[in-house]
Amino acid sequence: MKKYTEMNHDELLALKKELDKEFEEIKAQGLALDMSRGKPSNAQLDLSMEMMDVLKGDSNLKCETGVDCRNYGVIDGIPEAKRLLGEMSEVDPEHIIIYGNSSLNVMFDSIARSMTQGVMGNTPWCKLDKVKFLCPVPGYDRHFKITEFFGIEMINVPMTPEGPDMDMVEKLVSEDDAIKGIWCVPKYSNPQGYTYSKETVERFARLKPAAPDFRIYWDNAYSIHHLYDDNQDFLVEILGECVKAGNPDLVYKFTSTSKVSFPGSGIAAVAASKANLDDFRNYMQIQTIGHDKLNQLRHVRFFKDLEGLHAHMRKHADILRPKFELVLDTLDKELGGLGIGEWTKPHGGYFISFDSLDGCAKAIVAKAKEAGVVLTGAGATYPYGKDPKDSNIRIAPSFPTLEDLGKAAQVFVLCVKLVSVEKLLG
Ligand SMILES: Cc1ncc(COP(=O)(O)O)c(C=O)c1O
Repeated sequence: MKKYTEMNHDELLALKKELDKEFEEIKAQGLALDMSRGKPSNAQLDLSMEMMDVLKGDSNLKCETGVDCRNYGVIDGIPEAKRLLGEMSEVDPEHIIIYGNSSLNVMFDSIARSMTQGVMGNTPWCKLDKVKFLCPVPGYDRHFKITEFFGIEMINVPMTPEGPDMDMVEKLVSEDDAIKGIWCVPKYSNPQGYTYSKETVERFARLKPAAPDFRIYWDNAYSIHHLYDDNQDFLVEILGECVKAGNPDLVYKFTSTSKVSFPGSGIAAVAASKANLDDFRNYMQIQTIGHDKLNQLRHVRFFKDLEGLHAHMRKHADILRPKFELVLDTLDKELGGLGIGEWTKPHGGYFISFDSLDGCAKAIVAKAKEAGVVLTGAGATYPYGKDPKDSNIRIAPSFPTLEDLGKAAQVFVLCVKLVSVEKLLG
């Protein structure tokens, strides 16, 4: 098929007529499908159901140091959970704090703590005239919501397949001491599925920030979430790189088992230098008497070790892989060569990032909704919900069944075609 951008007015009009007809037919089916949030499907949740049976009324509920997990005590995580999440985060257990059920909650808390208490003895951010964050875009909407909530000014930094534009990051961070952090999803990024290159990680570790309390918010939410056994991305471990570069306190690494076990009922962790972790602990001991140790115990007894985690993630991959491939095949087959969109082809994670012709994303999302398919709101992948080009759409293939996903993908490509033709017709 000819590129849409090379069609003349009459050709476009004829095409629009055809597509309008197709759209009315699809609309008449009364679909109700959702490709908006990166949630595991029910089949994926079922993979962890045996975890519900590892702790019983007559189980030994003491952790390996003999602490009774039914009672108060051990504020920053039982040793075996630190070991498990330490292996997942590629750091020693002494560099880990185990939190509650959500890493996003820990990120929110880290910013709240920096606002009211300051970072390692520095002036609390709430006492400063201005606090800024760098936001690689497109990125994770909930990161941007946190910084927006605290009135932190967000600066867009373009993403590349190698990671954020590091020339820009280095320049801004070294010149402006109001810049206190950067949001990063370094592996199988949300929404592109990109993994930061070795050079990007090394440049991050060697940053020379103007602000002593600048931290890299390294949200490694998809660290073990591969789709393939033989085609996996590799991310250099950043905490060790920071130590090597003489910058041991530069990074907070966040992780959780949300998309390993049960989202909202997993365990979250932070990995960082001892000095940073002491800062976290000073706040934490006022905030709580401790997190859910029974859930920590349950996770360790179920997964056992890193190999157990990997074996479990392969089962997730078996469910997710056909879904990603279905969406990618549909995009290739229906939109390939038409010049009206580009998309990423991730090897892991939860998302595919789609870029339409400029000025079309909102209209595509609205059109899909009209046909009964909910997509992530256009603009959500940018700070303040403002995509300057109105072109990025995040596709989340995980939750629908394969059958529903097939229908949703067809609706999506039809909406892309229709909106693009309308745009080209002016
Ligand atoms: C990049 C990223 N970080 C964090 C989260 C949420 O993690 P948690 O459930 O641990 O709060 C998500 C969920 O979609 C995510 O995509």
